[in-house]
Amino acid sequence: MSCILALESSCDETAAAVVDDALRVRASVVASQHDLHAEYGGVVPEIASRAHLERLLPVLEKTLREARVDIREISAVSVGIRPGLIGSLLVGTSAAKALAWSLGRPLYAVDHVAAHLFAGLLRPSDAAESHARESRFPALGLVVSGGHTSLFRVESPVACELVGRTIDDAVGEALDKAAAMLGLGHPGGPRLEACARGGDADALRFSLPQLANNLDFSLSGLKTKLLYEVRGVPQGRGAAARFPRSVGELSDARRADLAASFQRAAIAQVLDRLSRAHELFAPRALFVGGGVVANASLRAQLARFAESRGIALVVPEPAHCVDNAAMIGGFAQLRRALGDLGDDLSIPAEPVSRLARGSTAPGRSLSTKRVQ
Ligand code: KG4
Ligand code: ZN
Repeated sequence: MSCILALESSCDETAAAVVDDALRVRASVVASQHDLHAEYGGVVPEIASRAHLERLLPVLEKTLREARVDIREISAVSVGIRPGLIGSLLVGTSAAKALAWSLGRPLYAVDHVAAHLFAGLLRPSDAAESHARESRFPALGLVVSGGHTSLFRVESPVACELVGRTIDDAVGEALDKAAAMLGLGHPGGPRLEACARGGDADALRFSLPQLANNLDFSLSGLKTKLLYEVRGVPQGRGAAARFPRSVGELSDARRADLAASFQRAAIAQVLDRLSRAHELFAPRALFVGGGVVANASLRAQLARFAESRGIALVVPEPAHCVDNAAMIGGFAQLRRALGDLGDDLSIPAEPVSRLARGSTAPGRSLSTKRVQ
């Protein structure tokens, strides 16, 4: 069994994993920094990179222990190299390069968005060594996270075409901001989901944004509508704007209703874009990933969507939706299986994904990107 060691440090999770060539996750350890950032209501980049420095080696040692693998048995090293906070990325990237160099093993520098997209292919450590798999391509791919909302036409794990993306906030970012508006704190997505459970999703109606490219997303209108609902219509503009109400005046019941309504509207937009893309591309499968896919309501609707259209849904378990290193190791294994020998150690960490970048304006043809 050829095992890849993976590191991930792009945002506020310090993570390491060992993944074998049957895509079985031998160990996956994630040290979250939520407690460090909670009082600021969001991730503070400088705090994040310092915490990565402190946590990386203990996380790595724990991962190797849990996987019962000696570091000399590792056949390659992989790391999330883009996108993310540059200071945070540099911690994982520098460590991975040093390990690859000192062990004399290849380095796979992986795009975090691509890793999210194929995390549904990861399997438990006790799964059978191999399993027959019919072709799932061409497929649709959806990444909904705190930093990305991207829709892809997928020809293979290394050939994806961006066909839709958010023109403003990512879905996870909008859920986080909605949670903040409702006084629910950080991290927003899971807190909003918990609050929405007791609420009436019909309480506030949101319309579906219609955009020039009908596979693009927009969340900012939903946010504004929620803000005005919570705090009233402001007097004045910009920094001088004064709201008639404060979030403290919301009753618990109303907060739950608004959380449920907002969550439903955000998910409805995701399903609308998927339906349109399905009609256009007639895919065989739907690959989904990213932190928002940990949401139970979205998962249930994705399952119904795929089942009603007779296509396979490739969805990660919730622990592999939110940031983790197993998805990085899994994607490196997919590249390896396609004969990719790895990257030069001079490859730089970058704040932006090459995969999810670019315009999706109608009439503009996008070349299929080689995914790294
Ligand atoms: O993939 P991820 O861990 O990091 C990025 O690459 O951005 O995604 C984080 C996002 C956050 O916006 C978080 O609020 C959202 O995923 N999220 C959720 C849930 N768990 C995490 N959103 C809705 N429901 C959840 N259960
Ligand atoms: Zn992520």
